[in-house]
Amino acid sequence: MSKDKLWGGRFSQPTDAFVEEFTASIDFDKRMYRQDIRGSIAHARMLGRQGIIPLADVEAIVDGLQKILAQIEAGEFDFSVSLEDIHMNIEARLSTAIGETGKRLHTGRSRNDQVAVDIRLYLKEEIGEVINYLDRLTGSLLFQAEENLGVIMPGYTHLQVAQPILFSHHMLAYVEMFRRDLGRMEDCRKRMDALPLGAGALAGTTFPIDREYVAEQLGFADVTRNSLDSVSDRDFALEFMSASSILMMHLSRFSEELILWSSSEFNFIELSDSFCTGSSIMPQKKNPDVPELVRGKTGRVYGNLMALLTVMKALPLAYNKDMQEDKEPLFDTLDTVKGSLKIFADMIREMKVNAPVMLEAAARGFSNATDVADYLVRTGMPFREAHEVVGKSVRYCVEQGKRLEELSHDEWRSFSESIGKDIYDAITLEACVNARRATGGTAGERVKAEIGRLKADKQRTAGSE
Ligand code: ARG
Repeated sequence: MSKDKLWGGRFSQPTDAFVEEFTASIDFDKRMYRQDIRGSIAHARMLGRQGIIPLADVEAIVDGLQKILAQIEAGEFDFSVSLEDIHMNIEARLSTAIGETGKRLHTGRSRNDQVAVDIRLYLKEEIGEVINYLDRLTGSLLFQAEENLGVIMPGYTHLQVAQPILFSHHMLAYVEMFRRDLGRMEDCRKRMDALPLGAGALAGTTFPIDREYVAEQLGFADVTRNSLDSVSDRDFALEFMSASSILMMHLSRFSEELILWSSSEFNFIELSDSFCTGSSIMPQKKNPDVPELVRGKTGRVYGNLMALLTVMKALPLAYNKDMQEDKEPLFDTLDTVKGSLKIFADMIREMKVNAPVMLEAAARGFSNATDVADYLVRTGMPFREAHEVVGKSVRYCVEQGKRLEELSHDEWRSFSESIGKDIYDAITLEACVNARRATGGTAGERVKAEIGRLKADKQRTAGSE
């Protein structure tokens, strides 16, 4: 009924029932109830402090809002679709509860700046959670890196054996990726840390409001600088969803490797039973469902980003109802990213590493061929020539069914006079790994130092929280 609506004055006919349902956002924006109430309390206190509404009214409003908060938390609040969204559900209930006074709350404010502040408050908190989960995941990776120091595995390019590396080095590659994700989350939280409230519908307000005071109460570092932009901007959601897409891309690559590594062909790792499922027909199966699902969920996070970019494209300034379509993809991204990070943090910690199988795989595929070439270079041979010599030796080994380290010294000398007996020590897998000592390399001492650095850094940032 139009007379129940907070905007009913101009209307003589009730809203069509399906239109009401179609335009409502309460089903999904009710999750911002805490932020909506916090924002309203800060706004009311500012109105009172500035003499815009009587101080006695502020007390009644704050008290009323706190009761509503308690009701929602106790599950006793009846959300109504005809009141459209979380903002009007709460405001209407306030007026029912405390009468006339409640109707003063919306002075100098619009739902346009209200929704903008709610989402920012909500997202700022949630990014904190995402950061905590990222931190837990890098903790699990560092744990595995430290537990398995010395375990050698094949490194790949084109998914073909390339050079031997430490399993720990492979884990630390993911730590680097997730640390960049963490940095992107912090950056985007910093950029969204400004209060949009006070923009009014689009042009500001005629009342002598104090935006800085509201910002201070709500813990914003700054206030936004242009009222039109304040209510039109959803960059903060897009930035978060872009950062989330990159993060999910990392999780998806990791998933792919875990799935490969747990196949019987690779058999590099075993995921704990609690993270796998069986088959209803094939009794032998243990399927890596969790990484498969995370790989799949990457698609929805990309899709959510595309959805909101497309919603925002070509919208004229300032607020348009299209923008109500921001919340579902944003919330879905948040839930998906948090869930995926949480499950990965636990799964990785429990993962078992099959060191002998990894070592044997690294010994196949001529992973030490580059090191033979490097050996020849150290005897003075130009690299291109060395490459050619080793290429021929590999071809010979393939024909003979031998590994490079199985060639006799005479066989070696048939390829190059410069190859001495010290070749054998130079091309063991350990020697290959440990020779890569420069910053960023896979040598044991280097990887150990990196683990130390990363752990110290973790402690430092945990201390600064
Ligand atoms: N439910 C709306 C949204 O999520 C709130 C803002 C509505 N503003 C308006 N002028 N209709 O976007």
